[in-house]
Formats: sequence, structure tokens, C-alpha cells
Amino acid sequence: MKPIVNGSRKLIVVGQGYVGLPLAMRGVEVGYDVVGFDLAEGRIKRLSIGESYVEDVPHAVVEAALATGRYEPTNDPRLCEGFDVAVIDVPTPLKDKVPDLSHVEAAAGMLAQYLRPGAMVVLESTTYPGTTEELVAPILEAGSGLIAGTDFHLGYSPERVDPGNKTWALTNIPKIVSGVTDASLEAVQGFYAELVSETIAVSGTREAELTKLLENTFRHVNIALVNELAMFAADLGIDVWEALEAASTKPFGYMGFLPGPGVGGHCLPIDPSYLSWKVRRTLGQSFRFVELANDVNEHVPDYVVQRLLVAFNNRNRRAIQGSKVLILGLAYKANTGDAREAPGTEIIERLVSLGAEVRVVDPHLSDEPEGFYTMVDLTPAELARADAVLLVTDHDAFDYDLVRRHARFILDTRGRLEGPNVERL
Ligand SMILES: NC(=O)c1ccc[n+]([C@@H]2O[C@H](COP(=O)([O-])OP(=O)(O)OC[C@H]3O[C@@H](n4cnc5c(N)ncnc54)[C@H](O)[C@@H]3O)[C@@H](O)[C@H]2O)c1
Repeated sequence: MKPIVNGSRKLIVVGQGYVGLPLAMRGVEVGYDVVGFDLAEGRIKRLSIGESYVEDVPHAVVEAALATGRYEPTNDPRLCEGFDVAVIDVPTPLKDKVPDLSHVEAAAGMLAQYLRPGAMVVLESTTYPGTTEELVAPILEAGSGLIAGTDFHLGYSPERVDPGNKTWALTNIPKIVSGVTDASLEAVQGFYAELVSETIAVSGTREAELTKLLENTFRHVNIALVNELAMFAADLGIDVWEALEAASTKPFGYMGFLPGPGVGGHCLPIDPSYLSWKVRRTLGQSFRFVELANDVNEHVPDYVVQRLLVAFNNRNRRAIQGSKVLILGLAYKANTGDAREAPGTEIIERLVSLGAEVRVVDPHLSDEPEGFYTMVDLTPAELARADAVLLVTDHDAFDYDLVRRHARFILDTRGRLEGPNVERL
């Protein structure tokens, strides 16, 4: 296989979301002609006028990319013709609790039509071990008549970006790289070496796929551990937050995780289930840690509502029905506007079904509210009119002093506040 030697090199990034858009922008920066391919017409329209919907990518960066003449957001697959490198960054959700690889299949099927000898395809979407070789390779081969690892390069490189993280981003997070052959690994590593400061090669695509699932399962399990600990500590009358803070002073052998209202986003509620599904399907066995962590974390939103019910009973001497609850933060984590799978949504649904009137403050959220609650600004009047304030996501943008001063009662699921009117999870 000949290495690609280019004057202008064409990079396709399939999927222009939280992962694909930053990669496309970086590709432009290092000199590629980049096609940002996405099926969502609305997203393509916005990108075409220099508008970003990903918080970590400022509008100015998209505008600058467009101004180079080397970034083309499109939903027309024909523009993918003649690519040198294609990276797949499409969603990998669960459907009926089973991995849904339909987006990956569609992306690979589209790319197969335009695959040329010597080109390279990399899968970045999070998925179970075996996907690159057992699912993506056959689709690319069948559609192109070429052989993976022989006629074209194929690899897997998990994306580790952490939306909202100001310290760690695409360029300085070490990138795991793998290929279906040594030559593919070399090509994949060469590609990423241009984009990021450090690449780490693993011997096969399955190891790379497992690495990502290990990282997210590790977080998921540890969050479940502290969530369960928080529930028991509350019943035992022990301040779990103080214990967690004290434990975090140990300079070795301990890594701090904090309790919260449950897990959300595109990763933790989903990725570990890709792993447990693979283990069950291939080995017929249950991945007990994953099942247990799912069980604990899925229960937390319900627990939060229970705690609020008890607080209404004990503090307010009233039922939650007809009461006003102000939710602070709906995004699944602080300082992002991503409310996918956010536990706050489940909490709101339960509160509304119990007859509470729910209002939500979230300065990061750009999506329209889903109808059963009202979005409001954080004002003294909103805080004062609420029978309870529920801190779900501790965005830095909230004026916590204002909250403490004007709220009658606060249930804090993030351990951020203290005071006579505050109860922590
Ligand atoms: N968001 C994160 O923090 C994060 C971090 C690491 C890894 N990941 C993984 O990266 C992958 C992508 O996640 P994301 O958060 O960027 O998703 P996203 O939903 O933000 O973006 C995915 C984009 O792919 C598009 N798309 C779907 N099918 C397509 C197709 N066949 N062709 C072209 N475009 C298509 C969608 O319209 C969407 O714009 C997932 O596997 C996810 O688990 C996400």
C-alpha cells in the first residue's frame, strides 16, 4: 500500500457533533481540506453561516475555518469523493437497552462508495470491542471491493473529549490509536500525531475499543459507589461530603468521586452497557459491576425526589402537590448545555407527576423547554416564590450567594452549599 502523499489532503469528518466538530476544526487548522458531513440539515445550515452549537467551539472558530475555504459543512455525500482520511464520529446510543450501531453502519456504507486504495478510515465513536473489525471493515470492503489493512487503512481511536473542560481538550488529551494491521496503526498514528500532542499506540482495535469502555465504566462504577454511600450515610446521620473531602487528602491509592443526582450525558448511562452487552452476548455472562452500577445510578433521581418529599413533610409540613419547585441546572454536568439523558429531566417528570409546579434555571441550555416546565432567570423573586430550590447541576454561572440569601429551602445534590436552609444529598 502506498502512503498518501498530498499537496492538498482531504479529510472527511462524518458527524459534526460534540466530537466531530472540534476534530473538523482541528483538521482545518493543520491544513486539511475538511468536509464536515452530517445528516442533520439544521446543523449544516448553522455551520454554513459560521454558527456553532457546540459550546467548546466558539462561533469565531467556525467562521475562521470557513474563511480559509478549506471547511465545507454538508449533507451531500458526493462531496466525500476522493478522500484521503475519513473519521466516523456518529452517535452510538442504546435502543431497547441494546447497542444501536445503525449510525455507524450508515456512515461506513456511505464512505465505502468513495473509498480509494491508500485512503484511511478511522472510527472514533464509542463502541464495544470488535466493532471496527467485525462491523465496519466488512461494510467498507463490501461497498468498495477493497481489503481493509491491505488496500486501505482502517483503525479505531477513541475520543476522550470532556465538553466544558477548560484544561483538557482535543489537542492535549493523549490519544489512543490502533489499526487493523501494523501499517494501518502507523498511518492512524501519523494522522493523529499532526492533530494532538501525544498519541499512544495499542496493539489492536479491540484493545483501543476496550480502553474507552474501561475509562467510562470506571467512572460509572465509582460514581455508583459514592451515590450509594451518600444514601446510606444520610440514613446513618453521617456527613458523607465531609468524609469524601477528608478521604481525598490521601496522596495515594484513592481517587475522589462525588455523589450527584444520577448520571447523564452521552457516555456514562450508555457506554458501560455496550461492554456488558458484549460480555453477555459473547460469553453468556453478566458483567455484575456494570449491572450494579446501572441499578444504583438509575435509582438516584428517584431518591432525590424522595428526599424532597421528606423535606416537604418535615420542614414545610405540606405535601409536594401544588408546591413550587425551582430547579437549578438541567444539563447533565456543570458548565455545559448538554441535557441528553440528564437525570434532572427524570426528576422534573416525577415532580410534575406528583403535582408540583416546576420552574428551571439553566443559563447554558439553548434547547426549548419540553413543555412540562418553564425556563426562568435566576432572580430573588423566583427564589423567594419557590417552596424548595433543588440544585441539580452546579454551574459556575449561578450566583450561589443570591441563592442562599433568597431561597427558603435548598436541597443540594452537589455538595456546593451550606447553611441553615440547606440540606445536602
Ligand atoms: N459528547 C462527548 O462528550 C463524547 C466524548 C467521547 C466520545 N463520544 C462518542 O462520540 C460519538 C459521537 O458523539 P457526539 O457527542 O459527538 O454526538 P452528537 O449527537 O453530538 O453528534 C453526532 C452527529 O452525527 C450525526 N449523524 C448521525 N448519523 C449520521 C450519519 N449516518 N452520517 C452523518 N452524520 C450522522 C448527527 O446528526 C449528529 O450531528 C459517540 O459514540 C459518543 O459516545 C462522545
